[in-house]
Amino acid sequence: MAGKKRQVLLVSNEKSVRWTLGSALLENGYEVETADDLSSARTLLKKDPTVVFLDLDLAQDSLELLKEEPIRDKDSVALMLHSKKSEDQVPESIKRGAAQSFEKPVEIRRILDVIEDLMADTEIRREVKSAEPIVIGNRETDRFILGKNPKMKKIFDVVERVATSPHSTVLIQGESGVGKEMVAKAVHFGTVKKIGQFMEINCGALPESLLESELFGHEAGSFTDAKHLKKGLIELASGGTLFLDEIGEMPLELQSSILRVIETKRFKRVGGTQDIEVQLRIIAATHQDLQKAVAERRFRQDLFFRLNVVPIFIPPLRERPEDIPILASYFIDFFNRELGRNIRGLSPTARNRLQNYVWPGNVRELRNVLERAILLEDEDRILLHEILIDMPHDMMPVMQQNERDGDFVPITLRELELQAVRQTLAWARGNKTKAAKALGISRQTLREKVRRLDDGALAGTPT
Ligand SMILES: Nc1ncnc2c1ncn2[C@@H]1O[C@H](COP(=O)(O)OP(=O)(O)OP(=O)(O)O)[C@@H](O)[C@H]1O
Ligand SMILES: [Mg+2]
Repeated sequence: MAGKKRQVLLVSNEKSVRWTLGSALLENGYEVETADDLSSARTLLKKDPTVVFLDLDLAQDSLELLKEEPIRDKDSVALMLHSKKSEDQVPESIKRGAAQSFEKPVEIRRILDVIEDLMADTEIRREVKSAEPIVIGNRETDRFILGKNPKMKKIFDVVERVATSPHSTVLIQGESGVGKEMVAKAVHFGTVKKIGQFMEINCGALPESLLESELFGHEAGSFTDAKHLKKGLIELASGGTLFLDEIGEMPLELQSSILRVIETKRFKRVGGTQDIEVQLRIIAATHQDLQKAVAERRFRQDLFFRLNVVPIFIPPLRERPEDIPILASYFIDFFNRELGRNIRGLSPTARNRLQNYVWPGNVRELRNVLERAILLEDEDRILLHEILIDMPHDMMPVMQQNERDGDFVPITLRELELQAVRQTLAWARGNKTKAAKALGISRQTLREKVRRLDDGALAGTPT
């Protein structure tokens, strides 16, 4: 959205309001349109302004405008203006979706601060909407792969292209949590001509003999415990995809067997003598540097070349900071739905913090940090002190950063206790017996403390 002027629509019947607020906004680089009645306001709304000011003293019912499209869909933020006379309509306007109301005569400085912040949120939301994500899964499990970083866009192109050739082998490399499994699924579910399933196995999680029989299956009686014939994942994935996760951990012996499957499209069950034919796509993933593993003779070079037909390297999150706000916005919406919360977004310092962190756990860590924040945040936006990074999640801060300038300030013992209660309850997923036990208090005592929490004892927490 860089470069585009930020549009504001100002709807008021008072000339002085239109004039003072309008010129202040213009001076600060916004593009401003004004309307003094509902019908011209409606026409101007079609231009999709980012922020709309609505005067509650407008002769006609300005609450009506909140039902209009860009506002209703949260593509535009509505801010109300009221006088003492119209003050009683403010709660209703907030209920209908307005973000905030300002009393007239307005304090220009305050308004400028607020809209700067709201603009950023709304622009990110618009960007997420128009980001053209790749959708994988069916309607119930819809999941999106988001990204605006050029390297990610290139990956999306490759995914779309490779999906059209159902047998090409794909090698996905990248640090832990960057989205390797997601991309693998996007390739599989994006493949139009497929009859088979997506079968996955973590090659580092099983001992060699078990891994072998999981992959290749076995004939009845092929070894002591093999009473019945068992089909392996290769057979089960026929016509679909076999996802070999952490391929770097696969024992050398098995690497040869997999190479044979790729080259001959045939395999034998363990203890079997007959070749079985298969058509399948193999997608392999690893967080290791496979080329280095080849150089160190831990990984077969010929298998590496066979797998590396379509290489996809997913960059770590710290190398694509522009993706952080859109991913964050997506996860906030997702967890709002999942957890039944209604968090509007991030405070500016919280957003800053996310943007400047190095994310060793990549997208998975971002997702976890936001899930936790959404679960625990009392305000309607995520404030800095709910962004717990840099320390294990089970650790309790005895200092907290204040929202204004990010300085660390001590917190009171009472607050510390309340936070302990809150975090322990979240950790115990609401199970009070478990939480009480962990805190070393009785259920009765915990209940009293929870009541204090419910009474908003933390409402005055400095942010
Ligand atoms: N670009 C993205 N858009 C949306 N969600 C993403 C994106 N990348 C990753 N995620 C989410 O982040 C989490 C981690 O992704 P995934 O499991 O695919 O990572 P991984 O690279 O396989 O990690 P690991 O190496 O630890 O197995 C998942 O919940 C996934 O949904
Ligand atoms: Mg994975």
